[in-house]
Amino acid sequence: ATVDYLNYDVLKDYGWELDDDDLFEKAARVDLDEVDFGRFEVEDDETLLEAAERSGHAWPFACRGGACANCAVALLEGELSQLVDHILSEDLLEQGIRLSCNGRPTTDELKVVYNIKHRPDLDDLRL
Ligand code: FES
Repeated sequence: ATVDYLNYDVLKDYGWELDDDDLFEKAARVDLDEVDFGRFEVEDDETLLEAAERSGHAWPFACRGGACANCAVALLEGELSQLVDHILSEDLLEQGIRLSCNGRPTTDELKVVYNIKHRPDLDDLRL
């Protein structure tokens, strides 16, 4: 699967919102560092977090076991399987929030905003 990613911190810097329709188009127009915006491939046997790490990215995590939400991402396109999730509410799941530490792509293309742990409603969840 191919993953387009964007750092949540960038949204705050530019005053963008997660539900902006053209979020990734706007991100492509400004000159963002590869840390914050880009693309990598996820192999069949990898979680999203593992693929990010193999691609040289230091995405946030802590437990790697579906219990802390430090690794949370917002899916804007595509889907991740979620083997273990002890933390996300129905409401957050409906908003496309997933855990990168054990989520594996089930679609060929994904658009994800990572580093979402700093969103206030997720900050409250983190251990
Ligand atoms: Fe703790 Fe993913 S790292 S839930």
